Amino acid sequence: MIKHVAPALSLKGEITLPPDKSISQRAAIFSLLHEGVSEVGNYSAAQDPQSTLRCVQHLGAKVTENAGRLIIEGTGRKGIKTPDGDLDCGNSGTAMRLLSGVLAGAGVSAKLVGDESLCGRTMTRIINPLEEMGAHILARNGAYAPLFINRNDALKPLSFELPIPSAQLKSCVLLAGLFGEEPTEVIETLPSRDHTERLLNLDQKITTDRKIITASLTDEIPNQSYIIPGDFSAAAFWLVAGAIQKDAEILITNVGLNPTRNALLDILRDMGADVTIENERMEGAEPAGDIIVKGSDLKAVEIDPKIIPNCIDELPILAVAMLFSEGTSTISGAEELRHKETDRIMAMSKMLEAVGANFEEQEDGLIIHGDPEFTFKSAKFESFHDHRIAMASAVLSLKGEKTSQIKDAESAAVSYPSFWGDIDQLRVES
Ligand code: S3P
Repeated sequence: MIKHVAPALSLKGEITLPPDKSISQRAAIFSLLHEGVSEVGNYSAAQDPQSTLRCVQHLGAKVTENAGRLIIEGTGRKGIKTPDGDLDCGNSGTAMRLLSGVLAGAGVSAKLVGDESLCGRTMTRIINPLEEMGAHILARNGAYAPLFINRNDALKPLSFELPIPSAQLKSCVLLAGLFGEEPTEVIETLPSRDHTERLLNLDQKITTDRKIITASLTDEIPNQSYIIPGDFSAAAFWLVAGAIQKDAEILITNVGLNPTRNALLDILRDMGADVTIENERMEGAEPAGDIIVKGSDLKAVEIDPKIIPNCIDELPILAVAMLFSEGTSTISGAEELRHKETDRIMAMSKMLEAVGANFEEQEDGLIIHGDPEFTFKSAKFESFHDHRIAMASAVLSLKGEKTSQIKDAESAAVSYPSFWGDIDQLRVES
């Protein structure tokens, strides 16, 4: 589907976000592992969380709905079933990597499949530790999905220092560890999103330079009865859209404010954006609040590579903010972007190229020479079937002089099905 996005004079109004994608997927998987009933409020209707939900049903979870809440009857760790067919993870790396940990731990044989994008993403990072723990994984060319997982040998505990700051990898190993008599530990030196340790209430030893998280069969799996907050990564599009539009004022309600996820807030504030947080509260184990963003004059920023894991999914839209900022901004240490739903450094470059931006692509990031007065006539954007590239291109289109086009715009539904409606709701045309 090609989406035509006309320029906006400004953006005003209130937005209700889609539920958090990472938390929704964990709620489904952890409810499967909990022996008993979880009541999950505000579960995401987006494609990735729905793929995960179908997978956990194939593994034995019983899912019904009551008054807008999902009632998930888990199997417990001992009761996970061998699925009748393939487990289809769709576009979701989180589903494939976290479920691989569960299957390897449980010793349940299954085949994990995904779409073309997911089948092109390396799984070596999870195959190595899971094989060390005793699993056997057959992967296409040794590295790619489809993955066939089984385990005949005993489950071995592992002490695993994360070679990359990845929450999917951390969660995968911890989930396998939850099935072991002896504790498995994951050592993290750069913080990545911590939803897994929060929602499972895992033991964490935190020192100045590292965090050690442990998991074993003796850990009780808490029931997953909570209301999922709105997705900060979805809020990011409105935070930037509001900051770069003259006289914009957007209220984003019920935003997840997990500190391992929201580095973009500090970055935008450093750039001079007018961002206010109100009604801070806890939703279960996760912090949430409302955010108001207003149009501001932005200045360039250099992103500290250490905080890249805390804003990894927001980098495509951050590049748009950088384009409309005074001076030269840099993103470096973000090589991991090349292994997302598409090679996002390449895709971000193509997006910037489409509007004639002044920038340089690096192996691990981008250098963007911004200008608050930057203008372009109109553009034809490729989204590379990547939801975040499609949505970042849409926000950029709002700043054109004429209507722009975005190819494969339906990909937004991977995380944010109502995105195109929301953009029209906020638009001020005259
Ligand atoms: C996710 C972790 C991140 C993130 C992805 C969701 C998660 O991936 O980019 O969108 O839910 O754990 P990596 O762990 O590969 O960095």
